[in-house]
Amino acid sequence: MELGIVWLVRAAWIAAILPMVIASIPISKLRSFHELVMGFARRGKILQPSSSQKWTVPQRFFAHFYVIGVAWTTLLLATTWMYAIKIAPLSPEKLQSSEIASHLTRGSKVFSFHESHLSSYRFKVWRAVFLLVLMEIQVLRRLVESIYVFKYSPFARLHILGYLAGLFFYTAAPLSLCSSIAPEIARFAGNQVAEFIAGESHTSAIDEFDLLLSIIPLMKLGSCQMIGGVVFLWGWSHQCRCHAILGSLRESPSQEREYMIPHGDWFEMVSSPHYLAEIVLYAGLLVASGGTCVTIWLLFGFVVWNLTLAAGETHRWYLRKFEDYPANRHAIFPFVY
Ligand SMILES: NC(=O)c1ccc[n+]([C@@H]2O[C@H](COP(=O)([O-])OP(=O)(O)OC[C@H]3O[C@@H](n4cnc5c(N)ncnc54)[C@H](OP(=O)(O)O)[C@@H]3O)[C@@H](O)[C@H]2O)c1
Repeated sequence: MELGIVWLVRAAWIAAILPMVIASIPISKLRSFHELVMGFARRGKILQPSSSQKWTVPQRFFAHFYVIGVAWTTLLLATTWMYAIKIAPLSPEKLQSSEIASHLTRGSKVFSFHESHLSSYRFKVWRAVFLLVLMEIQVLRRLVESIYVFKYSPFARLHILGYLAGLFFYTAAPLSLCSSIAPEIARFAGNQVAEFIAGESHTSAIDEFDLLLSIIPLMKLGSCQMIGGVVFLWGWSHQCRCHAILGSLRESPSQEREYMIPHGDWFEMVSSPHYLAEIVLYAGLLVASGGTCVTIWLLFGFVVWNLTLAAGETHRWYLRKFEDYPANRHAIFPFVY
């Protein structure tokens, strides 16, 4: 049942990626399928206002994704962090007396794990905490931006399927980041809730809270996490700048229907630098995960395919709309596409 969650998330990623992959195959027979998929994915300026706005919602509903993203990531992060402190503490003495054996052996009295198993498991748990911290930083910033930075046009719409895909994304993405330990986290959360309801007075992770013990392990992770974290922050900071540029284009409410050519930062190289930055920051998460988790690869595949398709449409839209559009700009990948 618990492992079923992981397989369900993987199956959902594959089901979401496959139509985009098929729609990208440049065969004339697939033209109508391409149009169908893009019809669901288009939003804002590339969803031309038509007589019918059936099956669409306002583009400003993007904020809902980040409300869900913040709530769900915070819950997963808090639970995983508590689990890490309780069963996978830093000091070896604490480790021996911890509940790790019973969690790993599902209640068996036999404690035959070799120290290397214990430390690699401990590393996996703290790495999941690290990935969720990065995700939290991303969804929090996106929530603030969608409320205070972007000036959504009241006419900009989003297909209902695109909206549902967004809700799916911000549920599945944080879960994917801790999928390698999802069954244990689910069991731990269940036990905590059961203990709370039963009013049992076991020492909880919160009672044992020690700021240093909760943070130091995050700093002692490996070089993959350090490099991944730096790549993540690089993409994160450029996305922040590019969003600020987009948000500054409409200076007055009278311009709410207008679109301009953005300039500055990565906009000098590509038409959708905020999508490129998103890919960079998810690449950072992938590197920080160690690259061994299939679910995180699928998450990354979805991000790349989804945003590359949207960037292609956006680039063609800019070329059609502005005669003086800078000829040196590519769609999303500098010098390539
Ligand atoms: N992880 C994923 O799979 C995924 C999927 C989708 C989006 N995202 C991320 O979410 C962020 C927002 O995506 P989005 O598709 O909503 O971006 P977008 O279509 O570029 O729109 C963002 C905001 O900028 C405005 N805008 C865009 N181009 C403009 C221009 N030329 N002139 C004036 N205003 C302009 C839009 O106005 P309107 O209100 O008129 O549209 C909207 O308010 C991106 O950083 C993206 O990476 C991630």
